[in-house]
Amino acid sequence: MLAINLKGKVAFIAGVGDDQGYGFAIAKALAEAGATILIGTWTPMMRIFTTSLQAGKFDESRRLSDGSLMHIEKIYSLDAAFDNPNDVPEEIKENKRYKDASQYTIQEVAAEVAKDFGKIDILIHSLANGPEVQKPILETSRKGYLAAVSASAYSLVSLIQHFGPHMNPHSSVLSLTYMASEKAVPGYGGGMSSAKAALESDTRSLCWEAGRKWQIRINTISAGVLRSRAARAIGFVDKMLDYSLSNSPLCKDLKAEEVGNTAAFLSSPLASAITGATVYVDNGMNVMGIAMDSPAFATTSG
Ligand SMILES: NC(=O)c1ccc[n+]([C@@H]2O[C@H](COP(=O)([O-])OP(=O)(O)OC[C@H]3O[C@@H](n4cnc5c(N)ncnc54)[C@H](O)[C@@H]3O)[C@@H](O)[C@H]2O)c1
Repeated sequence: MLAINLKGKVAFIAGVGDDQGYGFAIAKALAEAGATILIGTWTPMMRIFTTSLQAGKFDESRRLSDGSLMHIEKIYSLDAAFDNPNDVPEEIKENKRYKDASQYTIQEVAAEVAKDFGKIDILIHSLANGPEVQKPILETSRKGYLAAVSASAYSLVSLIQHFGPHMNPHSSVLSLTYMASEKAVPGYGGGMSSAKAALESDTRSLCWEAGRKWQIRINTISAGVLRSRAARAIGFVDKMLDYSLSNSPLCKDLKAEEVGNTAAFLSSPLASAITGATVYVDNGMNVMGIAMDSPAFATTSG
C-alpha cells in the first residue's frame, strides 16, 4: 500500500492562530501522517490561541482518524515581519500584545527550534498580512504595499534563510498562494496580489538556490477560497465562495482538508522530485477564462 509516512519527521508550521485556516488543516494532515508538529503563532494571537487550545476549544478540530487529538509539541511566538531583534521598532516592543513576548523574530525562532529539536524536515509558510488589503491597488500607499510584500512574501525568503541551515537534506518547504498573483481579482488589494506574485516567483528562484545549497525542495500551493479569519478580513469571501461554486470545473465546496492532504503529499518523500512548483488546489478554478454564471451565458450554460 502506498502511504504518506512522516513518522520521525519534524514539521514547523508558521501561521496558525485558530482552527479555521489552512495552517491548521496542514498541521492536522501532517500529524495524521505521523509528523511531530511545531507551530509558529503570530505574537499578537499567541495568548488567545494558547488559551483556546488549553480550554479545549479546538478539540473537535484536532481529532485524528484514530480518535486521538493532534498533539502540538511546542508553540512558538513568531512575527514574520521581523528578521532579528534590531528590526523591531520601539512602539512594537512597547505594544501590550508584545510586551511580555520574547524571541519572536525569525532568526530567534529558527535558533530556538534548532536548540529544541535539532534539524527539522518540513517548513510550512501559511501566513499573509496586508494592512490595506481592502483598498484597490490604485489607492494603496507605498507603506501599505511594502508592508504586504514584507509580511506575506519576504517572510518566506527570511524563513528559508534562517531555517535552511537547520533542515535535513531532502526536506520540504511549502507556502500558500492565491491566483490573484497571475489574474486580476478585484477586491484582493493593498499589494496582496503583488505579494503573491513575488511569493510564486521566489519559489522558483529559491528552489534553485536552496536546492543546490541544502538539497531542500520548495513549492507553493495555489489554494482556492476558504472562509478563514484572514479571508474574512478581506471582506468579499462569501461572494468569492459563491463564485467558485458556480464557475469551477468541480462544482463543490473546497475543504481545508484537501489543501492539507496535498501539503502532506508535497512534504513527503512521495514528492521527492517536485520542486519550484505552483500546485493548484482550487477545484480547477484557475483554468477558467470566463464566468459561466454570467447572464451572457444564460441560454447556453446548462
Ligand atoms: N483563505 C483563502 O481563501 C486563501 C486562498 C489562497 C491562499 N491563502 C493563503 O493561505 C495562507 C493562510 O491563510 P488563511 O486564509 O488560512 O488564514 P489564517 O488567518 O488561518 O492564516 C493567516 C495567519 O497569518 C498570521 N500572521 C499574520 N501576520 C503575521 C506575521 N507578521 N507573522 C506571523 N504570522 C502572521 C495570522 O495570525 C494567521 O494565523 C495565507 O498565505 C493566505 O494568503 C488563503
